[in-house]
Amino acid sequence: MGERKVFLVFILLLVPDPLFAQVDNPQCPKLCDCVDSHGEMTVTCGGEGLSQIPTDIPTSTIWLVLKYNNLAKIGSHDFKGLKQLKGIDLSHNKIKKISRGALRHLVHLDNIDLSDNALQTLSEETFAAPLAAAKQDGRRFFVFLANNPWRCDCHLKWLAEKYANDTIVYSERLVSCDSPANLNGSYVSDVPLSDFKCDPEVTFVESEQGNDATTPKTDPRVKTGSLKPLSKGATITTICVVAFAVLAVLFIMVRIGREYTTGRQDTGSEIETRPMILTDTREVYM
Ligand SMILES: *[C@@H]1O[C@H](CO)[C@@H](O)[C@H](O)[C@H]1NC(C)=O
Ligand SMILES: *[C@@H]1O[C@H](CO)[C@@H](O)[C@H](O)[C@H]1NC(C)=O
Repeated sequence: MGERKVFLVFILLLVPDPLFAQVDNPQCPKLCDCVDSHGEMTVTCGGEGLSQIPTDIPTSTIWLVLKYNNLAKIGSHDFKGLKQLKGIDLSHNKIKKISRGALRHLVHLDNIDLSDNALQTLSEETFAAPLAAAKQDGRRFFVFLANNPWRCDCHLKWLAEKYANDTIVYSERLVSCDSPANLNGSYVSDVPLSDFKCDPEVTFVESEQGNDATTPKTDPRVKTGSLKPLSKGATITTICVVAFAVLAVLFIMVRIGREYTTGRQDTGSEIETRPMILTDTREVYM
């Protein structure tokens, strides 16, 4: 018995440190490694072939490393709740699409690495909220964009404008166009701003899916055509109403004038003279 008590006390003396450490550290997602160094939690879920960002990443996470996975898109809720994030490494994935709202609540974000992915385009709006917050706090904000198959059209013009303006927010090195074909291999920063254009016909065809080449031509015409006769008809009716009102006023004035003169001439009662006027005017009108 005595030996056991001593043993228990010995265990209790040894155990507290790791026990408390576990209480302090929120649980780490299954395929991730969580390291808390000096109060800064780094969560690394790298090289595990993840196709989705784990949903149970601790909210205290400051650095999130997701490089070398199979992530294909970043949704608007993927970083929900991770408001403390300062850095996200998404490099070496297969990301094609990033939701415009994905980073909107990350007001402490300083840098995000999107290099070596499958991005063809990206909205400037994606970085608006964290960039504004960083500016306000006087922090630097940086986005890595290298080695993506960028499509250098009107939707990516904003990036070239940033480069032209010497904005040090978006990495320039190895950021090159993959398409259109005539710009393949050119660095985005070397392409003249006027070359970032979209073919208007292409977008038009996209919006008229499955229609013949002739239908898109007739469609807008039908729409505008149906609108114009309507407005013409409306003006015609207003003209008619006004003309009718003018005629009616003239009619009444004539009637009153006659009533006045006949009333004077006949000196009879008004009830007797009225039918006379009505027949008179009817004759005139006919
Ligand atoms: C470049 O920066 C100036 C000053 O900040 C700004 O007025 C201008 O609109 C910017 N140009 C582009 C193309 O972003
Ligand atoms: C651009 O050129 C590279 C080789 O330089 C090629 O692998 C790639 O398929 C080209 N992209 C397009 C869209 O033609």
